Amino acid sequence: MTANFAPVEAFDLVIFGGTGDLAYRKLLPALLRRHADGQIPAGSRIVGVAREALDDAGYRKQLQAALADVADAKTLEAFLQQVGYRSLDARKDAGWDAFAEMIGEQPEHVRVFYLSTSPELFVDICGRLGHYRLNEGKARVVLEKPIGRNLASANQINDAVGQVFDESQTFRIDHYLGKETVQNLLALRFGNALFEPLWNNGHIDHVQITVAETVGVGHRAGYYDHAGALRDMVQNHMLQLLCMVAMEPPSSLAPDAVRDEKLKVLNSLTPVDDSNAAQLTVRGQYRAGNADGQHVPGYLDELKDGKSNTETFVALKAGIANWRWAGVPFYLRTGKRLPNRVSEIVVAFKPVPHSIFDSSAGTLAQNRLVLRLQPDEGVKLWLTIKHPGPGGLRLRHVPLDMSFAEAFGVQQPDAYERLLLDVVRGNPTLFMRRDEVEAAWRWADPILAAWAASGEPPRPYTAGTWGPSASVALIERDGRTWNEDSE
Ligand code: BG6
Repeated sequence: MTANFAPVEAFDLVIFGGTGDLAYRKLLPALLRRHADGQIPAGSRIVGVAREALDDAGYRKQLQAALADVADAKTLEAFLQQVGYRSLDARKDAGWDAFAEMIGEQPEHVRVFYLSTSPELFVDICGRLGHYRLNEGKARVVLEKPIGRNLASANQINDAVGQVFDESQTFRIDHYLGKETVQNLLALRFGNALFEPLWNNGHIDHVQITVAETVGVGHRAGYYDHAGALRDMVQNHMLQLLCMVAMEPPSSLAPDAVRDEKLKVLNSLTPVDDSNAAQLTVRGQYRAGNADGQHVPGYLDELKDGKSNTETFVALKAGIANWRWAGVPFYLRTGKRLPNRVSEIVVAFKPVPHSIFDSSAGTLAQNRLVLRLQPDEGVKLWLTIKHPGPGGLRLRHVPLDMSFAEAFGVQQPDAYERLLLDVVRGNPTLFMRRDEVEAAWRWADPILAAWAASGEPPRPYTAGTWGPSASVALIERDGRTWNEDSE
């Protein structure tokens, strides 16, 4: 099956943080793949910006090495012709006049300023863009997460960015929303009559969301140690997944129709604070062990001073106080240096109300709908059936299993490919609105405060294991288990 590429207008895309990890690992490969599929219009320009003293040729040379595996040499060469570099410091004047002049050469282009820098620089960069009136015309700004480190700093950033860019020009990216399975959740929930009548506390026992990574923190320690798993993954990616599962049906896919519903979910999250954080949350930090096929150092070994109370693992039990979800726990867990790279959402249905089967038939298991975000994106619906053939009625729990790659024969685009082009198109449906970010911090801040007040360090876990044993206890206390299929 061939993929369908909707054309976009010619654009200039400026990546602040152009020599950073995200630019090299995600943004530029995503743009290169769109280029390889002929989706980047002629005349479009991609400009990396960072403090490093480099010129166009030097940047291209670095990219040539970094992107060699993404496309063949000829495609890469043609792509690099569209790529340039400017050395700028957000806090110094040098170079900004020339940069503004260069961007001004193509006033009819869509202009995208992608801020892939530390959030402390967002305000300075936007201030400069405003000063040079680069916010005019078809200009958009993309803010990478995390937006701030708590509600107060997020507000400061949003206020300052808002002085220069309207909300309609501001794209707060959460790349999980660009993942195929997350969008498929919309299709599955609202394109089938089957699920919606069951999608509530009458029929759903609980929901699990796991985002497990095998990688450690490595060279990102400088950023990560100030963030930790709650700020890095839960406040944004995992809450967005929770919203997509839990939101009411929006009236359409119009950006605000979807975002209004997500906001209601965020505002309905039950508070986790000093009074209950010890029961509802578990934080962990990895120690040396075997992960990713090798012996790896512990988190503290990766830090300069070897000291930190930052969590690299979180498991928590969240609740949503509304009619649809009251009493249904949402178990969330995420961590670095876990045994497998797997992200999935498990919707576990309630058991049948009464069994008609003898004990010899085996036990009845709950139906589970498993949405796999990565790897092997797909959907599994676990059903109970009769084991085929003679030998009496024996029950089996088997999945209706659909891998998207096998079913459709296309490689799914990376989330950033879709989202970058959505910014060019000016479509914010899959981006976070300011009030969503604020609501997410409003819920996360008291958890961070409770942890800080407790003074307890995160629980150690060996790299290559599923986090501290307390995270197993968190769910097993309730008579439930983490989905074994993912482990
Ligand atoms: C980023 C986090 O937002 O998401 C990283 O900052 C994390 O710490 C990454 O590794 C995970 O993204 P993905 O798409 O690889 O699951």
